[in-house]
Formats: sequence, structure tokens, C-alpha cells
Amino acid sequence: MAAMLLEVQQVGLNFGGVQALMDVSFSVSQGELFSIIGPNGAGKTTLFDCISGRYTPKGSIRINGAELVGQKSHLRPKLGIMRTFQNIALFPNETVEDNVLVGSDYRLRSGLLRSCLYWSPLGCSRQEGRHRAQAREIMAELGVEQFADVPASELAYGTQKRVELARALVAQPDLLLLDEPMAGMTSGEKMEIAALVQKLNQDRGITVVMIEHDMGVVMEISHRVLVLDFGQRIALGPPLEVIEDPQVRRAYLGDTV
Ligand SMILES: Nc1ncnc2c1ncn2[C@@H]1O[C@H](COP(=O)(O)OP(=O)(O)O)[C@@H](O)[C@H]1O
Ligand SMILES: [Mg+2]
Repeated sequence: MAAMLLEVQQVGLNFGGVQALMDVSFSVSQGELFSIIGPNGAGKTTLFDCISGRYTPKGSIRINGAELVGQKSHLRPKLGIMRTFQNIALFPNETVEDNVLVGSDYRLRSGLLRSCLYWSPLGCSRQEGRHRAQAREIMAELGVEQFADVPASELAYGTQKRVELARALVAQPDLLLLDEPMAGMTSGEKMEIAALVQKLNQDRGITVVMIEHDMGVVMEISHRVLVLDFGQRIALGPPLEVIEDPQVRRAYLGDTV
């Protein structure tokens, strides 16, 4: 059995009277492609917000054994965690390349690179050149290279989603959190993103946790699926098992299943 990369134990969070998450526990293995599904308002995005440090929940969230709850959110990229957002969070007036380079900035702030900045400006500009080259490579892989000099706000929605993904990848994450990466896309675009996510997982060995509504995609590419409903875990397992679960079918009655 592969080592556990992410361990979520009894996580709970309230917003006033709304219990957004209740005693949610699960683990994600190194190298897994793990999906989270559930009706709107189930707590999926809130769970990502807890992992990425926007909220401080009850319970424990560990990455490679290190506790995240209570740690400042800016440490997440250094710990190898990057995310994309359900509502795109790019700098609208900056170019695609500059938006993507923000991802390598996270790495530039790490101890080793900061000391290189201090001791050797020359070493650093070389470092920056490498980052730029790497950003270009990732932009090409994601099919957004031709928009490098275009302000993010001028791009089609699906392309902006790709740019966000490129920014996350440039930081070379061990754990990639994707919040509805295919929302609002055509079925052709969805297939492309699904293939890309699968490739990142298989070829680069990036562990992926993906929130996604498109059940077809989830069933096809996920190793395991967690189902949330009203802030609680109602099922966890391989896609074919989860889809047969009576509680899951009830939660989705009249919805996607
Ligand atoms: N910042 C917030 N303030 C108050 N309630 C919130 C906030 N964010 C989310 N919620 C509530 O928490 C619940 C879970 O929301 P969310 O995590 O966005 O669901 P999902 O991503 O599964 O659709 C919902 O009832 C939502 O209205
Ligand atoms: Mg959401």
C-alpha cells in the first residue's frame, strides 16, 4: 500500500448556524487521483479551504505527517500543496505569462532560493530565466502558450481555467487540489482536461484531489471517490462501488445519477 500523503481526520467547520463540515475523515495515498463529489452546498469547496488554510477547522489535516491546521496558509506551496479555484482567481489585467509566473514566485520564496537571491544576484537571474523557461514549457503543455502576452481577462473561460492550472503546476506541487476544473466547459474541452489531469497524475506522479460534478469524468479517471452530503461523508471507495451505494443514489436523486 502506498504511503499516505494527505490525512484528514474528523474535520468540522461551522458558519454561524450552518454546519458546513461534520467529522469528515479520509486519507489520500501518494500518487492517487482522488475525487470529491456531492450536491451543491455539500461542503466540498469548504473542505479545500480548510486544506489550503483559508479556514481553521476542528480536527486534523496532515500532509506527509505534518499538521496543517493552525499553520499559516502561505506555507502551503512550500509544503507542496497548490490549488485552483471554483471561481477563477487570476489577476485579470496581468498577462497569462505573468499570472503563471506567480506560481514560481511561491517557490522563489523558499529558503534555498531566498538565500540565492541574497548571496548571488547573478545566480538568481539565471534562476528566474529557468522559471520563465519552465513556465513556457507548462503553458505549451496546457495549450495556452500562444496567449502568453494576452491579459487574462481577455481569454475565454475555459482558457482561463487552463491558465490557473498552469500556475499551480509551475509551483511543482506534490498535491494538486482542483475545484471543478471542468465547470462551464464544452464536452470536448472537458475530455481534454480530463486527459490532462490523468497525464499529470500518471506521468508526473502528482497526487490529485479533484472536486468535479461531471460524473462521467469522475467515474472514468478517479481511483477513489469521496461523497459528501450536508457536510458529512456518506461514501468512500472505488467509483463503481460508490455509484451503487444507496445513500449516494438518494443524495443524487433527480440530480446527476
Ligand atoms: N463564507 C461562508 N459563509 C457562510 N456560509 C458559507 C460560506 N462558505 C460556504 N458556506 C456554506 O457552507 C456550505 C458548504 O458550501 P460549499 O463548501 O461552498 O459547498 P460545495 O462546494 O459543496 O457546493 C453551504 O451551506 C454554504 O452556503
Ligand atoms: Mg464548491
